Amino acid sequence: MKVSLVTLSALLPSAFALWPLPTGLSLGTTPLKLSKGFDIKIGIPNPPADLVAAVSRAKGFLANDKLQALVVDRGASSASAIAGAKSLPSLTLSLATTAKGSSLKSISAEAIAPIESRVEGYTLTVPADGSGAVLKANSSLGLLHGLTTFGQLWYDLPGPSSRTTYSLSAPIQITDAPAYPYRGFMLDTARNFFPVSDIKRTIDAMSWVKINTLHWHVVDSQSFPLVVPGYTVLSEKGAYSASKVYSPSDVKDIVTYAAARGIDVIPEIDTPGHTSVISKAFPEHIACPEATPWASFANEPPAGQLRLASEATVNFTAGLLKAAAGLFESKFFSTGGDEINANCYTQDNETQASLASSNKTFLQALDTFTQANHAALRSVGKSAVVWEEMVLDNPVTLANDTIVMVWISSADVAAVAETGFRIVHAASDYFYLDCGHGGWVGDFPTGNSWCDPFKTWQHAYVFDPVANLTAAQAERVLGGQSLLWTEQSGPENLDSTTWPRAASTAELFWSGPGGDVQAALPRLHEQVYRFRQRGVAANALQPEWCALRPGACDLTA
Ligand SMILES: *[C@@H]1O[C@H](CO)[C@@H](O)[C@H](O)[C@H]1NC(C)=O
Ligand SMILES: *[C@@H]1O[C@H](CO)[C@@H](O)[C@H](O)[C@H]1NC(C)=O
Ligand SMILES: *[C@@H]1O[C@H](CO)[C@@H](O)[C@H](O)[C@H]1NC(C)=O
Ligand SMILES: *[C@@H]1O[C@H](CO)[C@@H](O)[C@H](O)[C@H]1NC(C)=O
Ligand SMILES: *[C@@H]1O[C@H](CO)[C@@H](O)[C@H](O)[C@H]1NC(C)=O
Ligand SMILES: *[C@@H]1O[C@H](CO)[C@@H](O)[C@H](O)[C@H]1NC(C)=O
Repeated sequence: MKVSLVTLSALLPSAFALWPLPTGLSLGTTPLKLSKGFDIKIGIPNPPADLVAAVSRAKGFLANDKLQALVVDRGASSASAIAGAKSLPSLTLSLATTAKGSSLKSISAEAIAPIESRVEGYTLTVPADGSGAVLKANSSLGLLHGLTTFGQLWYDLPGPSSRTTYSLSAPIQITDAPAYPYRGFMLDTARNFFPVSDIKRTIDAMSWVKINTLHWHVVDSQSFPLVVPGYTVLSEKGAYSASKVYSPSDVKDIVTYAAARGIDVIPEIDTPGHTSVISKAFPEHIACPEATPWASFANEPPAGQLRLASEATVNFTAGLLKAAAGLFESKFFSTGGDEINANCYTQDNETQASLASSNKTFLQALDTFTQANHAALRSVGKSAVVWEEMVLDNPVTLANDTIVMVWISSADVAAVAETGFRIVHAASDYFYLDCGHGGWVGDFPTGNSWCDPFKTWQHAYVFDPVANLTAAQAERVLGGQSLLWTEQSGPENLDSTTWPRAASTAELFWSGPGGDVQAALPRLHEQVYRFRQRGVAANALQPEWCALRPGACDLTA
């Protein structure tokens, strides 16, 4: 993987807008343009409706992207070569193997299938001689990804009367498949609320860089925007307002929208910590609600944790998780498990009484609590996802299909790997998008973010997913994700905080490690410009002067 990515990068023309970089790519030097009547055809009987919709979106992007080459003349000097170029009449989608009798599943079905069974690869052939292009895959997901790649091959040249959509790199041959099956983005919608439209726009942007998982940290101590059937009082009393909620139909809308774009939505209801707001509706289940000084009871205000040793609270939590799980299609559900504050429980007489009467230590009680929750999820077909503390600080009994997310530090990866569970990289020292924006707690002028400094796209890009791991441990790395905790984010800066940095991580886990930032920068610039053309307000990486002159602003240029 390492060798191929580096080699490919070196072969690319200075401007070529593929992101993430395909794992197998060969380019020519012949100009080619899309014919006026260019069409995308589906050479598959009874194609699934979401594949037909994906083709329609792909055509829309070809018509509307109008992405001009990021060179000083924006492609004008190639005008005569382009005018004389052959025209590509069509792209035809077909199945790589003609498995008779087995009809193609929908993108939506494949997106939420068991992660180890997903097939995402494709081949794409774009001849230079004016014959049609062909996209082949064994799956709807593969066809979706191939369509996304096809849409990144073209530039726009405005003419006096009409535009031309062209490439200077035909013939093009791509054989592509992801290095890792889990490529995610985590969004926290509890510290600040995000309307459904913002989440859908983010899902669109994720799909354009082949991210396939939205880890939705939907509720937390500050607010409970999720409307859970049977537990609606939680959002009635715990959402920031009656309009800042996700109804079951909103959730279905998001889950359906994501699945049609190849994205699995994994919800998280963090437990037993990060649950203060539940006290508004169910005070009997929360220890140390809004206790002060908050810093003695929690890592951020407001304090409050589920009374994990109480049988009634265990029953309540398991029931809540099961009901919430019913809103989602994913095979996974995260029960969190991070940042449990011991003092909160020490100071809580009810918890101490429960521990005494059941003759359990804190860890035994946490084990009972976790097993009950996970059993409830398993009863509705869900595997658990947990944060790293559940195997390191507070090792509890977990089923072998549990996924553990490393968040505190990449230095913990090896220790988590030793426990034998499957791992998702989410370490704050590489993948947290919220670091480095200054402190947010009040009355503390010299405060910083706890995970300073800001994590640049370059920093995440050079992460090694298998550093410090044995070969056997490396096999249990499912992939990784960028994460946006939203203490200092809202709809206003969602796009600019997330993009293009989350795209850097997307390429790391699709194309594999070993890419170099110098070769990647011109392509990432183009991805930024494409995001903007499609309505996602991605941040600038450099002055436009530099974006138009690949390499000219490198440190040693
Ligand atoms: C489709 O599956 C066949 C059989 O497993 C494999 O040889 C081929 O490479 C696959 N094609 C693509 C495009 O992934
Ligand atoms: C909670 O307790 C009730 C009554 O004993 C029981 O019917 C229910 O199954 C329990 N729920 C869970 C999730 O254990
Ligand atoms: C907890 O118990 C102790 C000892 O019985 C008592 O002094 C304290 O007031 C109790 N705290 C609360 C919040 O009830
Ligand atoms: C409480 O648990 C400890 C350790 O498991 C055990 O030695 C003790 O006998 C138990 N006490 C009661 C009253 O069950
Ligand atoms: C869990 O263990 C079962 C039984 O040994 C095995 O079949 C399964 O593959 C394991 N699952 C994972 C994810 O390791
Ligand atoms: C590898 O281990 C070292 C030493 O514990 C640690 O500092 C580093 O962050 C780890 N690297 C990764 C990528 O996990």
